Amino acid sequence: MSHAESPEGTRRDFLYYATAGTGAVMTGGAVWSLVNQMNPSADVKALSSIMVDISTVQEGTQLTVKWRGKPVFIRHRTTKEIDEGRAVKLTELVDINAENKNLPADSDATDQNRTLDKDGKWLVMIGVCTHLGCVPLGNNSGDYDGWFCPCHGSHYDTAGRIRKGPAPRNLEVPVAKFENDTTIKLG
Ligand code: FES
Repeated sequence: MSHAESPEGTRRDFLYYATAGTGAVMTGGAVWSLVNQMNPSADVKALSSIMVDISTVQEGTQLTVKWRGKPVFIRHRTTKEIDEGRAVKLTELVDINAENKNLPADSDATDQNRTLDKDGKWLVMIGVCTHLGCVPLGNNSGDYDGWFCPCHGSHYDTAGRIRKGPAPRNLEVPVAKFENDTTIKLG
């Protein structure tokens, strides 16, 4: 389903607010149009960093916030997701780069290099497919229990690494860190 065919549906599914110091919420997947990504409103564009309260994000769920005009996925991974991600060898990957802005550029794409915490519970990624910019569907979607981009069939694993389909790179991990136990700072 393209955004053009169902603009109300995709917009209705994406509930968010973004004011200074605040991030918030969407659940489930939505196809975010390229047009929207390329035309973030001026107020959103101006927010170089935001604080996101993750205290209510249950294990096995994902919070999506809008940041700098793009969706950002914040996933609280289950033990199964962590185990699956860590069992993957680098040689099985399409893109062996961590694509993690918090690490040196040549870091490899181990599961540990993708997550925000040492235990691997928190995965933060720009929710934009690296093929042509659609928003992948989450909640253990696709053949690798991670995210699936329905636009042209890209499958990402539980660490957001591209495993199958036309996307060339892993979903990007943006600059992010824990401000405290329940707050993640983006940017
Ligand atoms: S935009 Fe995601 S597969 Fe093409």
